[in-house]
Amino acid sequence: KLTLRRHLHGERIIVLANREPYIHQHDAEGGIGVVHPASGLVSALEPVMRACSGVWVAHGAGDADRQTVDAQDHVRVPPGEESYLLRRLWLSEEQERGYYYGFANEGLWPLCHVAHARPTFRTEDWQQYQQVNQKFADAVCQEASSEDPVILVQDYHFALAPRMLRARLPRATIITFWHIPWPNVEQISICPWHRELVEGLLGSSILGFHTQQHCNNFMEAADHFIESRLDREDFAVIRHGQRTLVRAYPISVEWPHHHASEAPPAAQCRAELLAQLQLPPDTLLGIGIDRLDYTKGIEERFRAVERLLEREAALIGRFVFLQIASPSRTQIERYQQVNRDVEELAARINARFGREGWQPILLRRRHTEPADVFRLYRAAQLCYVSSLHDGMNLVAKEYVAAHDDELGVLVLSQFTGASRELREALIVNPYDIEAASGALAQALLMPAEEQTARMRAMRRAISEANVYRWAGRMLIDASRLRRREQLIELLT
Ligand code: G6P
Repeated sequence: KLTLRRHLHGERIIVLANREPYIHQHDAEGGIGVVHPASGLVSALEPVMRACSGVWVAHGAGDADRQTVDAQDHVRVPPGEESYLLRRLWLSEEQERGYYYGFANEGLWPLCHVAHARPTFRTEDWQQYQQVNQKFADAVCQEASSEDPVILVQDYHFALAPRMLRARLPRATIITFWHIPWPNVEQISICPWHRELVEGLLGSSILGFHTQQHCNNFMEAADHFIESRLDREDFAVIRHGQRTLVRAYPISVEWPHHHASEAPPAAQCRAELLAQLQLPPDTLLGIGIDRLDYTKGIEERFRAVERLLEREAALIGRFVFLQIASPSRTQIERYQQVNRDVEELAARINARFGREGWQPILLRRRHTEPADVFRLYRAAQLCYVSSLHDGMNLVAKEYVAAHDDELGVLVLSQFTGASRELREALIVNPYDIEAASGALAQALLMPAEEQTARMRAMRRAISEANVYRWAGRMLIDASRLRRREQLIELLT
């Protein structure tokens, strides 16, 4: 944290992200409550903002958000701690439909994930996406207190903003991070506006992805689609004299995790949860925690649980898989469909294996606050992350961060960025139901010493490559770049 602050030289950073870290909502008692959204982006970036201070510019999506801001649409957060500013922007229904639901989540999201959902691109959505990117870029400029601010642009909602910001603030340090995969040239060319996306992102000083593969894909796209020069040694794209470094910065979680000291020890978390679920204390507990999204492979996960019960009859009545699925992007038809499919599948498996007082799958489709999620991680002997494709997946890292008892097994899809780092997890192909159910069985039978050896190695990896390191590495690269540019200015 300290290193991070040092790299900023006291400067406040401006984050641009669609999702806000705190959502104010009216509660049932007529008051206003705060909700922490289910978003890997938010859980990673929020601790960085708490450590650095600055301003986070986001869409005000809560129904009580307007009531909590001042005349500049600012509110100090986190509630009670108030270490940085949240600046909210208001979108019309039309803007939200076109920019967020349409272009970002029916177009770019399925385009960038190999999950076999066909992307939809509509001209009206694209127009809204352009307008909303401009609206947010303007707001960021208002927040800038110098000519050369440090701006962190986040994710696929804002591919055009870096270029718009560069036009207004030529000396800014713009660090853009793309939290989802970047597909290969053939696939990205499906988007009718792929050139504009690449050009927009090249307004950045640094463009970050989770993996080297995504960097390579982006470099190739720049080479194919636009007039630019590649510096393959330095991993940079040069366009109109503007250099953009393209680098892999695998995102991570805070360390130590701020819920770690508040939550009871693992054994107590488990005992309390099992009592609450009215299950015997020796029940083996597996967990899945996701947004209800078709990329997460929740159906494949349930099928692996079903196959596990077919092959290990001794687990019938003994093993429970608790799936927390936060409703997400519910206005989109594909999300309504995954909701129905997951529900039907869980019901079918429960009807097949369930008996008096026991069901193998407990499906909870409601928002769960991070503090409660942390206790669930601690309680579970097994966590299965079965994403069909995922930029990083922070659930995997959070499960490991929660297990300071050095027990518990992570079963992890090979199609997540996290699988490159967490080598001691049981890595599986989630489509291979037979192999995945074998890994679940192996996890439940694993001797404690092996669990500890694996968990310890993963905890070591995350404690070193934590989220402060993620942000710090980008800031170090940015300051090197700045120094280099200053030198060039001096010499020319
Ligand atoms: C992914 C995206 C984030 C997004 C999160 C939650 O992690 O990369 O940008 O915030 O999903 O989705 P939502 O649409 O609710 O913000």
